[in-house]
Amino acid sequence: MKIYVSEDYKDMSRKAANIVSAHVILNPACVLGLATGSTPIGMYKQLIDWYNKGDLDFSQVKSVNLDEYVGLAPTHDQSYRYFMQTNLFDHVNIDPANTNVPNGLASDPEAECERYNQVIRSMGGIDVQVLGMGHNGHIGFNEPGHAFELETHVVNLTERTIEANARFFASKDEVPKRAITMGIKSIMQARQILVVVSGEDKAEIVKKAFYGPVVPEVPASILQMHANVVLCGDKAPLSKIM
Ligand code: F6R
Repeated sequence: MKIYVSEDYKDMSRKAANIVSAHVILNPACVLGLATGSTPIGMYKQLIDWYNKGDLDFSQVKSVNLDEYVGLAPTHDQSYRYFMQTNLFDHVNIDPANTNVPNGLASDPEAECERYNQVIRSMGGIDVQVLGMGHNGHIGFNEPGHAFELETHVVNLTERTIEANARFFASKDEVPKRAITMGIKSIMQARQILVVVSGEDKAEIVKKAFYGPVVPEVPASILQMHANVVLCGDKAPLSKIM
């Protein structure tokens, strides 16, 4: 694993964006695995900035996102499709047809998972998968205890995740109870994994994930078994491992 320690969030975002740009520059038709959440927002801003300066061209890039809530329309402001449109896709020249987020409105979510697996396969796999990490070590919506060997699948969200997400909805009842997520198996098949972390509150889980035992109770711990992981963080989340 390569670790890049940054002074602060801005610097971390820039380093992470550098890694993603390297893929886009060296392979203009690369497949980017993307994540939502607060951590990669600065990275997306940086990529948009470089695109606006003429340094990046997304016209042939393909993307595949980690996850989406079941039941949310792409136009819902809490859907992950909406997040991607507003934080990246609407601001660069990526072809909308080349962007993939699981369809939260699919009438048959299980069939949607199978379709999504086929999409990833048909693109020849993922060149770099961006991952944020939950405080409990979740990656995508793969919560503690989930099997490592799953591809895209439907998950029931834990009470803790529902509660954590409630602040983004009018009430807790409106928080989706299920999501579609790439599984650990799909994530592990990416040729490179770029983990972004920020904030002191991630220090403990970073230590557990990268230096603790590899166990389903800490989903991100499986990343220790991947041959090409880059961990980008500011000082605080890396404080217990450096
Ligand atoms: C995002 C995702 C989640 C987040 C994780 C960390 O698509 O699947 O696993 O990466 O919850 O979120 P932040 O970055 O908000 O701490």
